Amino acid sequence: MAEFRLPANSRINKNGKAHKAEGATRPKSFKVYRYDPDSGENPRYDNFEVDLDTCGPMVLDALIKIKSEQDSSLTFRRSCREGICGSCSMNIDGTNTLACTKAIEDCKGDVQITPLPHMEVIKDLVPDFKHFYAQYASIEPWLKTKTTTPSGKERLQSPEDRAKLDGLYECILCACCSTSCPSYWWNSDKFLGPAILLQAYRWLADSRDELTGERLDELEDPFRLYRCHTIMNCANVCPKGLNPAKAIAETKKMVAERAI
Ligand code: SF4
Ligand code: F3S
Ligand code: FES
Repeated sequence: MAEFRLPANSRINKNGKAHKAEGATRPKSFKVYRYDPDSGENPRYDNFEVDLDTCGPMVLDALIKIKSEQDSSLTFRRSCREGICGSCSMNIDGTNTLACTKAIEDCKGDVQITPLPHMEVIKDLVPDFKHFYAQYASIEPWLKTKTTTPSGKERLQSPEDRAKLDGLYECILCACCSTSCPSYWWNSDKFLGPAILLQAYRWLADSRDELTGERLDELEDPFRLYRCHTIMNCANVCPKGLNPAKAIAETKKMVAERAI
């Protein structure tokens, strides 16, 4: 069997000890949350040292470098590495964000990385999104109509109506907002949370959708919608610059207006 050799500039110490990048000209420390359910051990932090002179500029670059050069068991999600797929969401220095768009140089001192808060952890930086996706499915996120499509034509939308979807369609379902919301932390079994409510409003705001009333019926509930108490963490943290709080306020307004 071929012998596995570590790169000359790295050294592995298990259980929370530093992984040093020997001879690094620009060393930076990363303190990374580790949890392996198969080990039976408690979660811990591992410290990894990375030479920024041989690393890409983003936190995701450092994680990929750590995984390929220091500890191949380090587990995290990533795909597009440009803020589009939403899979690399995690908590970096206390803020939920995307590792692929978070610049290392914006992190002062040691970089602390943990999974998104208040979600079950599958392994290391990988949270369990099953419940989040089930909530997404519950809002039936597709165009719903009652009338038949005009023969041979697509359903048209004016540029003005299309513009109403700006600030909504860009959501990448990274869950940074929902997992920063205290109401969602304590009531995620019943409260839909900012990400899913923004997605729900995306269909309420779509001029082509014809089941607005039914969609509002589903949302009008003390928990599903009204557990939002305008805490605003969601809008502050969204890595795409979206404002779920505004979408939630618009939804509440639609519910109120139809009651008049
Ligand atoms: Fe992520 Fe922003 Fe969508 Fe929330 S609204 S899921 S933070 S992209
Ligand atoms: Fe939570 Fe955002 Fe409302 S942080 S309470 S969903 S305004
Ligand atoms: Fe796709 Fe970060 S890897 S958003």
